[in-house]
Amino acid sequence: MATQLNKVAYITGSSSGLGKALAELLLDQDYFVIGIARTASIEDANYQHVFLDLANINQVVDFQFQVDGKEVLLINNAGIIGDILPIGQTTSTSLQEISNVNILAPQILINTFLATFLTKTTKGHLVNISSGAGKNPIDSWAAYCASKAALDLFSQTIALEFQLNGNHAWNIHSIAPGVVDTPMQAHIRNTSPEKFKSLNRFIELKQNGDLVSPEKTAQKIFTVINHPEKFKNTVLSVRDF
Ligand SMILES: NC(=O)c1ccc[n+]([C@@H]2O[C@H](COP(=O)([O-])OP(=O)(O)OC[C@H]3O[C@@H](n4cnc5c(N)ncnc54)[C@H](OP(=O)(O)O)[C@@H]3O)[C@@H](O)[C@H]2O)c1
Repeated sequence: MATQLNKVAYITGSSSGLGKALAELLLDQDYFVIGIARTASIEDANYQHVFLDLANINQVVDFQFQVDGKEVLLINNAGIIGDILPIGQTTSTSLQEISNVNILAPQILINTFLATFLTKTTKGHLVNISSGAGKNPIDSWAAYCASKAALDLFSQTIALEFQLNGNHAWNIHSIAPGVVDTPMQAHIRNTSPEKFKSLNRFIELKQNGDLVSPEKTAQKIFTVINHPEKFKNTVLSVRDF
């Protein structure tokens, strides 16, 4: 590693939706941001893009965190719903892709991140973007729900390890962002009611103006990033603060 910057943030899924809004907010807050996604949509002197397919686990295993900071932040934001179909009708490929992007890639990235920075960095924070769907089942989203539940418990286990090992300068949070007006919500609405019994609920969220903008949601998540020590619970929902 060459130079050590002040505040460095790595964020997956920085090309659209919530991840893009978070990356832009972090740039405004003087972070050097490394965005990870298959496509790039941010241009900024303090932004570096890494083209990575998180469904391709070999690419994730090979990834190295090369930019060092006095404060380092990793946000596992990238997530996919995949094919919206009941179990028994979906494909093995879709199940594999959802698990790779939503839970296996975050686990591998966190493991590499901690191996790289845990003992040599002043301050570190891990943020996983979870979902209310990790707490309550939604039909035709089984693998998505299961992946977010797994992300919550993975995060709680790391919090326990930080506590037991005296890593007091490190924090981890798994944050459900509420319902956000992003391409993921458009994908959800674009499903047939035969395959997805809860479809109307999601159409109504959009029609009633109940979806929150990615920028507003990013601001709320930033309150946790800015003062992680104030948020004692590992698993959080933006609806609670
Ligand atoms: N929107 C909501 O209402 C809502 C509610 C609860 C939780 N969430 C969670 O919030 C997070 C962000 O979701 P969003 O709504 O902002 O979704 P989005 O607009 O669909 O954005 C998803 C991001 O993930 C990236 N991504 C997807 N597959 C990838 C892959 N194989 N490799 C690398 N990057 C990949 C995409 O980048 P590329 O396509 O360029 O690769 C994109 O930047 C997700 O974890 C989601 O589960 C969202």
